[in-house]
Amino acid sequence: MQRRQAAEAAMAEIRAGMKLGLGTGRTADHFVRLLGAKVRSGLDVVGVPTSEKTEHLARSEGIPLTTLDQTPALDLTVDGADEVDPSLNLIKGAGGALLREKIVAAASARMLVVVDAAKQVDQLGACQLPVEVVPFGLGATQLAIESAVGRLGLSGDIVLRERDGGTFKTDGGHSILDMSLGRIPEPKALAVALSTIPGVVEHGLFLDLADAVIIGTDEGVETFIR
Ligand code: A5P
Repeated sequence: MQRRQAAEAAMAEIRAGMKLGLGTGRTADHFVRLLGAKVRSGLDVVGVPTSEKTEHLARSEGIPLTTLDQTPALDLTVDGADEVDPSLNLIKGAGGALLREKIVAAASARMLVVVDAAKQVDQLGACQLPVEVVPFGLGATQLAIESAVGRLGLSGDIVLRERDGGTFKTDGGHSILDMSLGRIPEPKALAVALSTIPGVVEHGLFLDLADAVIIGTDEGVETFIR
């Protein structure tokens, strides 16, 4: 209910002719379904999905799709998040789509985040922080991540994500290391440290990307603007 409410509120931002980034996850799925209904009623928009799963859903909803090669600059991305802090910085990637989500968000003039109330936190880090890594040299990459995290005074388990008894693979064919840090007092420092490690493709810290966050609550929606 909270997720759907947030997605419904996001629909108010949609205008004819918009080029849209389509997020991944349960809340983004609500938005894609609502958008599909509008498209079938005549709304003219085009979308770039952030995952193969969202692409499949958007196609089934009849939403016209494009790519960032054909349409490199988007008007608005609507996506979910795993955590949102008071500065509207995010952790994303529980669904494994963080790389495409970040590329699409960065290619968009605005990013609108839709979440349920449980995602609102005072400080990032209670949920796992996913780090997408190249499978080659995984052990060395993980060691480098552990060292970088330690230098920032942080610690916690780092676990290779699995699915169906095997290693989870992202749409890009990469692996994911999920980090349980508990707290991330300086997300920018951690983002820079992770980004400089060879073998790290992307991390789930989305900093200074969200322009607005719509939070679904039991009492209605709350909107925060950066
Ligand atoms: C996908 O990789 C994630 O970044 C999702 O956006 C995030 O997990 C939110 O998903 P829910 O809306 O399902 O909570």
